[in-house]
Amino acid sequence: MATNTLEHEWQSVAEALEVPAATMRLVQGSMSQLEAYHRPTAEHCKRVGILAVRIGQYAELPLKPLFYGASLHDRGKLKVTRALLDKTGEWTAEDAQALRDHPSDGYEETLNEGMVVTAGLIVRHHSFQPNAYPEQLPDAPPYMAGSFEQCARMIALADYYDAAHRPNSAGLSTEEEIKAKLLAHQADMNELVNALYEEGILGTPR
Ligand SMILES: [Fe+2]
Ligand SMILES: [Fe+2]
Repeated sequence: MATNTLEHEWQSVAEALEVPAATMRLVQGSMSQLEAYHRPTAEHCKRVGILAVRIGQYAELPLKPLFYGASLHDRGKLKVTRALLDKTGEWTAEDAQALRDHPSDGYEETLNEGMVVTAGLIVRHHSFQPNAYPEQLPDAPPYMAGSFEQCARMIALADYYDAAHRPNSAGLSTEEEIKAKLLAHQADMNELVNALYEEGILGTPR
């Protein structure tokens, strides 16, 4: 998706959700920082924001937390070197270590801005995978009843899906390969993943 189209679509989602102006200033502020630092990461965050909302509409989850959490999930990468963010080869153990703090860094920043639920979602976006991190998670905020955990899970799913489209040293994966990876990676969510492909929420050109 071209940069302008993506920006337009992301803004349209924010408008459709009627994001309050003060919240949008915070979200936009950190998105602008990320854009200035590393545009592909900001674009990934916008795509994940849009996709998480689409998944949330299908799964009937609260959409604003999904939009904020997904759009800001990688804001902690401001502290990761650009060289590592640009790397397309296999990550070394050292690289993996350097990436491990970004959910917690994003959590701290977001908590400082008073967005408690969003911070809680951000810190969990790598917590549903093998070798999950961070090892210690802060308590879930006492809101949103049962849907907080589900929202965190959907953001992780949207993130995994979008990241699977990154070019890597082996080239680009096909949509079929990505679907197979997603089904293997999210073994307990195969019904939902298959339904999202059937609905065209996953699997359509980004
Ligand atoms: Fe991440
Ligand atoms: Fe991500």
